[in-house]
Amino acid sequence: MAFSNKFFLLSLLLLPLANCENFSVHSCAKNITDNIDLQARIIGVLYHLMEVTPATGFASSSFSSSGDSTLYALAQCRGDANTDLCRKCIKDSGKVLHANCSNQAQAYIWYDLCFVRYDIVNFLGNWMVDGAETSMFNSVDTHNLSAFIPAVIKVIENLKTMVRTSGDDLFVKMVASNITNLEGVSIYGMAECTRDMNESTCMECLDHVEGLLHKECRNRSGCKILHNSCFLRYETYDFFSIESR
Ligand SMILES: *[C@@H]1O[C@H](CO)[C@@H](O)[C@H](O)[C@H]1NC(C)=O
Ligand SMILES: *[C@@H]1O[C@H](CO)[C@@H](O)[C@H](O)[C@H]1NC(C)=O
Ligand SMILES: *[C@@H]1O[C@H](CO)[C@@H](O)[C@H](O)[C@H]1NC(C)=O
Ligand SMILES: *[C@@H]1O[C@H](CO)[C@@H](O)[C@H](O)[C@H]1NC(C)=O
Ligand SMILES: *[C@@H]1O[C@H](CO)[C@@H](O)[C@H](O)[C@H]1NC(C)=O
Ligand SMILES: *[C@@H]1O[C@H](CO)[C@@H](O)[C@H](O)[C@H]1NC(C)=O
Ligand SMILES: *[C@@H]1O[C@H](CO)[C@@H](O)[C@H](O)[C@H]1NC(C)=O
Repeated sequence: MAFSNKFFLLSLLLLPLANCENFSVHSCAKNITDNIDLQARIIGVLYHLMEVTPATGFASSSFSSSGDSTLYALAQCRGDANTDLCRKCIKDSGKVLHANCSNQAQAYIWYDLCFVRYDIVNFLGNWMVDGAETSMFNSVDTHNLSAFIPAVIKVIENLKTMVRTSGDDLFVKMVASNITNLEGVSIYGMAECTRDMNESTCMECLDHVEGLLHKECRNRSGCKILHNSCFLRYETYDFFSIESR
């Protein structure tokens, strides 16, 4: 899974099962050939993030040692994850990155409930249109598509409006029910930015990801687009309850 920092989309067919809760994708790049110190710092950073992230659901840091390049890192749990689930998710992420990426100077891992990233280039506060991203979708929709697609568009628009007033969390969720021509269908949606974003960079990132969502997810009953600075997702089942409690 070598998608490094180039634009890349990976589509997987997922079923709407509860065990999606610990689904994850990771990628790493920038081989470290002869820098033991940097490798040690990566492992140190991962353990530091495991310790400090659960308290608030977010941590970012820059670690340097004398005369060497700085390592930038960020960890964030989904806005509705409780402390215990957050701790478990960051711990799992740290383990996977330690096992698979500690000899690489750049890494990302996305779980449903958290995201962890590090790099020797300072990414904190800035999003990139060509940042790493991945998409996943649920089964092809069986609902009335001519009613479903506009309803999804409306949910995404509402989420973006809500993010503007979400404060520092940069996380919002909603459910749309009682939709015309979609009897019995509810659409659960969420939008989130990494908390190093400010309101305007968050909106830029979400606009970008929304474009991808409309392209990639068109007639899917559920879909998520995961960028390295923001995330959008919708489903026709209550993934909030299944995953975050
Ligand atoms: C995935 O989730 C299931 C159910 O919550 C759990 O039993 C299992 O240990 C998890 N696997 C990993 C790799 O986290
Ligand atoms: C990075 O290192 C791995 C294992 O050491 C090697 O298989 C891979 O080819 C290297 N990649 C690059 C781009 O040098
Ligand atoms: C990553 O590391 C875990 C151990 O934590 C291992 O089970 C898994 O197979 C590794 N994945 C890849 C793609 O190397
Ligand atoms: C938001 O962050 C961007 C990038 O760091 C910066 O250029 C911009 O001035 C910031 N905007 C506000 C309102 O702080
Ligand atoms: C599907 O939705 C369209 C418009 O949204 C509507 O005209 C049509 O009657 C609906 N079909 C069914 C079977 O509900
Ligand atoms: C959906 O419609 C039912 C019956 O009309 C109503 O009781 C319920 O509150 C509505 N739900 C929402 C979320 O609007
Ligand atoms: C859904 O969209 C894909 C790609 O745009 C297309 O190949 C497929 O036929 C569509 N399926 C339905 C049921 O419309």
